[in-house]
Amino acid sequence: MTQNAALTRREFCKGAGLTSVGAAAAGPGILLGDEAGTAAADGTPEQIHLTYGDDPATSVFVSWVTAAQAINARVLLHGDHGHTQVMHAVQRTYTDGLSGQTVFTYHAKLAGLKPAATLRYEVTADNDRHRSSPFTASFTTAPRGRAAFRFTSYGDLSTPVTSWRLSSPQSRYAVQAVERFAPLFHLLNGDLCYANLNPTAQPAVWADFGRNVQTSAAKRPWMPCPGNHEIEFGNGPQGFNAYLTRFSLPSNGTPFQGLWYRFQVGSALFISLSADDVIYQDSGAFVSGPEPIEPAPSTGNAPILPGTSLYVRGYSEGAQTLWLEKTLAEAALDKSIDWIVVQMHQDALSSSKNGNGSDKGIRESWLPLFDRYGVDLVLCGHDHDYERSWPVRGCNHAAGTDAETGAVVDTCQPQPVITSTPAGDKYDTRLGTIHLILGGGGTSSPLDAYGVDPANGMPQAKVITKPNRPVPGPVPGTFTKAAADAREPAIWSARRDTETGYGIGVFDLDPGEAGGKTSITIRYYHALGADKLPTPEYELFETLVLEKDRRDAPAG
Ligand SMILES: [Fe+2]
Ligand SMILES: [Fe+2]
Repeated sequence: MTQNAALTRREFCKGAGLTSVGAAAAGPGILLGDEAGTAAADGTPEQIHLTYGDDPATSVFVSWVTAAQAINARVLLHGDHGHTQVMHAVQRTYTDGLSGQTVFTYHAKLAGLKPAATLRYEVTADNDRHRSSPFTASFTTAPRGRAAFRFTSYGDLSTPVTSWRLSSPQSRYAVQAVERFAPLFHLLNGDLCYANLNPTAQPAVWADFGRNVQTSAAKRPWMPCPGNHEIEFGNGPQGFNAYLTRFSLPSNGTPFQGLWYRFQVGSALFISLSADDVIYQDSGAFVSGPEPIEPAPSTGNAPILPGTSLYVRGYSEGAQTLWLEKTLAEAALDKSIDWIVVQMHQDALSSSKNGNGSDKGIRESWLPLFDRYGVDLVLCGHDHDYERSWPVRGCNHAAGTDAETGAVVDTCQPQPVITSTPAGDKYDTRLGTIHLILGGGGTSSPLDAYGVDPANGMPQAKVITKPNRPVPGPVPGTFTKAAADAREPAIWSARRDTETGYGIGVFDLDPGEAGGKTSITIRYYHALGADKLPTPEYELFETLVLEKDRRDAPAG
């Protein structure tokens, strides 16, 4: 509690030190609400969402947002035999560097929980206008040891409020889809709400995202990774302050807390990465012009001029990749881990025609590590479609061509270990890593058209092999960023969904028996017709099974 209290003060002062934040502004000790002239601005919890702590079997964070500073923000955890624990929340704030709005968030760590336990909780504060009947929900902690469980995944969700850029009603149906499949937890693979495309109203976009997601994320952890649209002007050195303030995530022991992390559920290790650190593509906050972005006068921030982009490649100076290698090396020695699943936003293997394509930066920095330590699955977003790779291992260095000149380019083309469906439809990911693009959360821009080599009709991928920094555009005063600079035969592409860009991945892990086999059954459900008209209907598109020997000793 002492540590929490210290963090509360420090984090609060960080936010309150910035001036002119409208109705929500206050110095330490000043109560908000009616006194600030906004009857609605109080400590009522909203945007309530769960994430795992370091050990999903015993720790869960409850996080939420309030319109003004909450007083005595807390979670009541209802345990066995009518016992109720009060868990006080840590306050974290930031002041949006463009609108000047201060965002108040609260985080209560529930620790020491029983594995596989279903617990009911309430979220409230002294200035919660629903204090007599606070928000309540239940969740289930992860099992301890090898056990069956389900998780789900997609990226690129946006919000259901269509006045925001890239938002779509499909994002509400996508959240409902998670509830339909009722996983233990959900992986949200970046590009959460596209707030950075709505620069004058970033916190308002996040609020609409949070309200939509709450309908599922208050009942089961949603584990995010940052994408390029979490990079915002005015919000921290890499632009991730809005993201980092809202999510409490497992620790990584580096100064970049919250940007990458690991957690284990049953026999699966989940590794969440921040690919903006290694990709070549420049796709964060960007002013195309001709008008600058004018931050609210209260921020004191200067206009952000056309041609400015927040390019963060290399921001951790190698710290993330070092952490990744250490984490994978430890996993290799840990016989309790049968499966390694990586979550990141951008794609190492994408043959999208109108989207971003594959990024050589991930191929150079991380694919060799995935090969060396046997990562089974990589789950991404970024291109708003569904694409599955064959298991890949190693790469070819002379398979690419320059998009303009046709000269040979080293794209580090991933090498498939098989190119036909294996016997029994069972894939052995000890031989190679399968990459899945699950970019069909709910944005208004589906990208389910795929590259084809006109010479032979075979799948072709665009590859980004160098930085595409802003250059002057055709209209004076405007700037543009080049598309992918190279192409390659997408010999690694196994399946592409050409019918719709929207869907959800559902993963069922079967731990099997000691000395026997373990499996993950992957089912991808897609929202047919959603490219034209949002729909709550998700139908099965394909099923595949990953199967391998367990790593523990035979029973007896
Ligand atoms: Fe996206
Ligand atoms: Fe993206």
